[in-house]
Amino acid sequence: MKFFIDTANLDEIKEAYDLGVLDGVTTNPSLMAKEGITGDDNVKAHYKAICDIVDDKVSAEVISTDFDGMIKEGKELAKIDDKIVVKVPMIKDGVKAIKYFSEEGIRTNCTLVFSPGQAILAAKAGATYLSPFIGRLDDIAFDGLELIEQIVHIYANYGYDTQVLAASVRHTMHLIKCAEIGADVVTCPLNVITGLLNHPLTDAGLAKFLADHAKAAGK
Ligand code: E4P
Repeated sequence: MKFFIDTANLDEIKEAYDLGVLDGVTTNPSLMAKEGITGDDNVKAHYKAICDIVDDKVSAEVISTDFDGMIKEGKELAKIDDKIVVKVPMIKDGVKAIKYFSEEGIRTNCTLVFSPGQAILAAKAGATYLSPFIGRLDDIAFDGLELIEQIVHIYANYGYDTQVLAASVRHTMHLIKCAEIGADVVTCPLNVITGLLNHPLTDAGLAKFLADHAKAAGK
């Protein structure tokens, strides 16, 4: 399973990359706004700065919602760096844009996916990645993980190439369950990745090893 970090914060991206387990980055307009990045040139420069940190796969989302606007914007984003994946919303013109980009050899991430039907449309259009939002479904009392399971099953039935990129991942249990289900990628905040490190028996065991070592050495 690949790990993407879901942030536009450069320090967090560096920290995750330095851990040696990062495969990519996802951003969205809210995450860019959180970092105070506004204006076309600043946005492009920020995407470039992210691309300079990681090896590949940086999702940059279009703001336009009409076909022509998405194509123009997506092409400009793709020109920033070969690592860019153009993120397109699951709307009618978005599906058309994904088809267009797929024929042009531009990688896409279809975002704001909340149903198996939307997942089928995106795969048929040739999306590289599909982002179903687990946490936002859980927030309204629908089972986000069940959606991941359904989509993984459907994609396996037909051998679709689109990779299931579990998004809106809020905690480590979401991530672990996605791994059990067989999601191709999980995107999540830094604390979810570092949260995987934690176990009280690891801490207690290490403290005991170090204490025993110090005792034997007469310290
Ligand atoms: C996906 O790419 C989105 O950026 C993200 O995972 C949304 O997560 P949220 O629901 O926690 O905002």
